[in-house]
Amino acid sequence: MPAPTPSAERVLPPLRIGPLTVDTPVILAPMAGITNAAFRRLCREHGGGLYVAEMVTSRALVERTPESLRIIAHDPDETPRSVQVYGVDPATIGAAVKMIVEEDRADHIDMNFGCPVPKVTKKGGGAVLPWKRDLFRDIVRAAVREASKFDVPVTVKMRKGVDDDHLTYLDAGRMAEREGVAAVALHARTAADYYSGHADWDAIARLKEAVTSIPVLGNGDIWAAEDALAMIERTGCDGVVVGRGCMGRPWLFADLQAAFEGRPERVQPGLRYVADTLYRHGELMVAHFDDDENRAMREIRKHVAWYLKGYPVGGDIRRRLGLVESLAGLRGTLDEMDLDSPFPGPDAEGPRGRQGTARVPSCPDGWLDSQDITPAMEIKLREAELSVSGG
Ligand SMILES: Cc1cc2nc3c(=O)[nH]c(=O)nc-3n(C[C@H](O)[C@H](O)[C@H](O)COP(=O)(O)O)c2cc1C
Repeated sequence: MPAPTPSAERVLPPLRIGPLTVDTPVILAPMAGITNAAFRRLCREHGGGLYVAEMVTSRALVERTPESLRIIAHDPDETPRSVQVYGVDPATIGAAVKMIVEEDRADHIDMNFGCPVPKVTKKGGGAVLPWKRDLFRDIVRAAVREASKFDVPVTVKMRKGVDDDHLTYLDAGRMAEREGVAAVALHARTAADYYSGHADWDAIARLKEAVTSIPVLGNGDIWAAEDALAMIERTGCDGVVVGRGCMGRPWLFADLQAAFEGRPERVQPGLRYVADTLYRHGELMVAHFDDDENRAMREIRKHVAWYLKGYPVGGDIRRRLGLVESLAGLRGTLDEMDLDSPFPGPDAEGPRGRQGTARVPSCPDGWLDSQDITPAMEIKLREAELSVSGG
């Protein structure tokens, strides 16, 4: 990690999330299937920030499923230890948070109210949940009540609302602030927007005006350090949350740190550096999955296209990397590439990962008729927790 240049101007002060101080006000967005301990390590090696684990459901935690415990495990040197919990039932959320803090499993707990996946929203979970104001408040309250006993800060990550006619973020942000959360993050799209178009950064500015006593974090479409600076400039937010932009590009965190310290350096890797980073990602993944090379390689395959975006690598090699089965196979195929290829420029940067088109969000019948919740809806919601897997 490069040392700060003393003469350079910091763009923002350190981010304070409850008792935690994050020098570089950058957060790795929780991404199911991506931000496991292996990927977080790669990112951390490049720059400062707060690195959030993949989402885990409160029910899985309470049931202590092995996968949920793997998801919230951190490398011994990872600090602060950050996790994200998804839940729809205040009691289960409370129990999950209690378990995390009593067993000293995390230093920060983020709560997911942003999942737009239809199988979740159609049961009332994720991004459409804050529409039910009392339920949202009770979930946040239960989490804060348990976490505050151990001085662990809770944050909320949400979308703008269900759709443009059913916006929730200003109410939810103010409510979260009143309930004692330590920061709120806004992915500035509605559930209906899914991942389409450009995030509405002006909504982040509005949230910043509405929520005044805790940090407001902006999220959506930061593909380069310059985008982060532009978001800060446009919205006045206190920190940025970066998701898809770092997929296959963990060095983006070096750029972000440099940018926030007022330095112009940007990482422009040649293909050898990209290949070595991808291989190291593979090695870390094998360790993360307890030496299960097969599982690790299945995971690494989905990262290949992001790492190689814009580099002159032929279809045959790309195809074989997409089917890689072992670390040795990964290294061998990577070595067939022209590793002396220089950084190809803007083709290697920019959007990657989920895009998707806008859609009418699926909600339970009658969901949007009122902001109160019925007992039948609560039952559906609990089912929602069983089918959630990120987003
Ligand atoms: C593959 C993938 C998985 C995601 N999983 C989660 C998740 O578990 N929890 C969450 O709050 N958001 C999740 N998200 C949303 C991101 O955290 C982030 O809000 C979104 O991608 C917008 O930020 P970006 O434009 O920087 O990517 C996921 C996004 C992607 C692409």
